[in-house]
Amino acid sequence: MRSLPLLIAAALVFGAGQASAADAAAGEARFKQLCGTCHGNTGQGDGPAAAGLPVKPRNFADAGWQASIDDATLLKVIREGGAAVGKSPMMTPFGHSLDEAQTRDVIAYIRSLD
Ligand code: HEC
Repeated sequence: MRSLPLLIAAALVFGAGQASAADAAAGEARFKQLCGTCHGNTGQGDGPAAAGLPVKPRNFADAGWQASIDDATLLKVIREGGAAVGKSPMMTPFGHSLDEAQTRDVIAYIRSLD
């Protein structure tokens, strides 16, 4: 895990100054725990499992994508899965492991990545 300090540093830089009712720091911890395998710990779509996926996760730091998707859609994708919005079913539903408030924390973290 040679790159861990780098990832933490990047997370601190990208997370700085993002005040929000949802807790981006808590969301970051959950993202790394549940989503990093595919999305990468900083959401760049470079998690260890990404290479084996037929449809690759996008880079969440893409400002154009950030602007194109609203929070309601993010909530739906995360809680109900990719298939619920016409995306890859490899994006599995997380409604069983994240309640709505926890999902909003994760969304706050994703929003801090642009
Ligand atoms: C097993 C791998 C995997 C895991 C784990 C995973 N995802 Fe995904 N996710 C994907 C793939 C693949 C896509 C791309 C789907 C597509 O573009 O059709 C995706 C798409 C998404 C999208 C939609 C992005 C877009 O293109 O509009 C969001 C938001 C998302 N994931 C959030 C999460 C969050 C939050 C977690 C953790 C709670 C998570 N994902 C866990 C594989 C995964």
